[in-house]
Amino acid sequence: MTMQWKLVCKQSDLVVGAGVAAMVNGEQIALFYVPESEKKVFAIGNWDPIGKANVMSRGLVAHLQNEWVVASPLYKQHFVLASGQCIEENIKVPHWSAKLEDDNLYIALN
Ligand code: FES
Repeated sequence: MTMQWKLVCKQSDLVVGAGVAAMVNGEQIALFYVPESEKKVFAIGNWDPIGKANVMSRGLVAHLQNEWVVASPLYKQHFVLASGQCIEENIKVPHWSAKLEDDNLYIALN
């Protein structure tokens, strides 16, 4: 299947070092702008499967075990931004490739 880049927002809609939530094709996605990281922007599902609420975009971003992670604001589990994998539990949230081009942020949809 070919990957489709979907325009989601402007770079200026993102917050440096923190998350924002976006609705893409009826699904809530949490976007994290981490300029120090290699990828710059990460996109994971906004739904916290442990806390059972759309809160991931409100979590704290940190660098842990050599990965950029977000700590869920509810029960503080850490989710790896690049893969959606939870560090403490065997659970994963969806993740998407993201890219900045000019002032635009795109995520890859399959
Ligand atoms: S962990 Fe990267 S594609 Fe699923």
